[in-house]
Amino acid sequence: MTAFLSVSSSTALSPDLPTPCGPISEAVTRCLAAGLPGGASVLPTLTDVDPTSRDVQLTLLICYELHYRGFEGVVDAWEWDPDLLRLRATLESAFLDYVREHVEPGDDATAEMDALSIEASSGTGPSWFLRDEGSWEQMREYFVHRSIYHLKEADPHAWAIPRLTGQAKASYVAVEFDEYGGGKGDRLHQHLWAESMVAAELDASYLGYVDRVPAQTLAWVNLMSLFGLHRSLRGATVGHLAATEITSSPGSQRYVQGLRRLKAPEACVAFYAEHVEADAVHEQVLRHDVVGSLLRDEPALEADVVFGMRALDFVENELADHLMARWSAGQSSLD
Ligand SMILES: [Fe+2]
Ligand SMILES: [Fe+2]
Repeated sequence: MTAFLSVSSSTALSPDLPTPCGPISEAVTRCLAAGLPGGASVLPTLTDVDPTSRDVQLTLLICYELHYRGFEGVVDAWEWDPDLLRLRATLESAFLDYVREHVEPGDDATAEMDALSIEASSGTGPSWFLRDEGSWEQMREYFVHRSIYHLKEADPHAWAIPRLTGQAKASYVAVEFDEYGGGKGDRLHQHLWAESMVAAELDASYLGYVDRVPAQTLAWVNLMSLFGLHRSLRGATVGHLAATEITSSPGSQRYVQGLRRLKAPEACVAFYAEHVEADAVHEQVLRHDVVGSLLRDEPALEADVVFGMRALDFVENELADHLMARWSAGQSSLD
């Protein structure tokens, strides 16, 4: 973890295609790199899809990234190639089935948000460990995992905007407007994150560490894209953002404390300090104006809203378990 670029030069680029890590990502990257869709290279027929494998999660991430920034040297037309979309759908349904199998159904969004709002006084996850005893190197590793999302922070949730209406839409956009810097490019949370990466002497380029992170990190980010890109999952997207905002403020406070303990550069502290303040407000907007209004307009979405909240918790716990297992064994959490 040594090479790093300046924020302005690193955040504007389309990333390179990730390094494949199994038969599916191998075949897909070969096709994408070969040129136009419909050429000589053939996408694989999938028989056995393990949604916990890195190969499946990396392929999903590659398919989704065609809707965000694309890849250097890959023709944009791949975004809507029917064969690639069919392959993506097979991977998505295996992933979604897996998450649904591990998440209890629920249908009371208010009770769910109330439970999420109760601040724990102790815990065993990375935010507690990094607050109290983690090393600077482990904090930097944590940044590397988070970079896969924070460099596109708010983008996965933005897909839901056209699918909302009325007050829910207006308030959802108000939160996204803050995430996008309130009209100021240098206040974009994506940009603040890039600044904190550079301050920590890390590579701030978009997907710069995609080849180093495990399946759990990719799954955590893929879940947001999966929800965001499907109108049928708009309730889950709203639930996902609500749970993100409700849990962010106390979690960010622990990172502020951990970073101060480690005497981290101020830009690293600033990113989390911003989220302590902003997300306490976002929580209230999400609870009442977004979720409340959405469920008044579309009460049938309540179970999906709860699913989005619990699904986030599930994938975050999977990643937290990975981090803590590696760190307790004295190992790096990166590959
Ligand atoms: Fe943010
Ligand atoms: Fe926020």
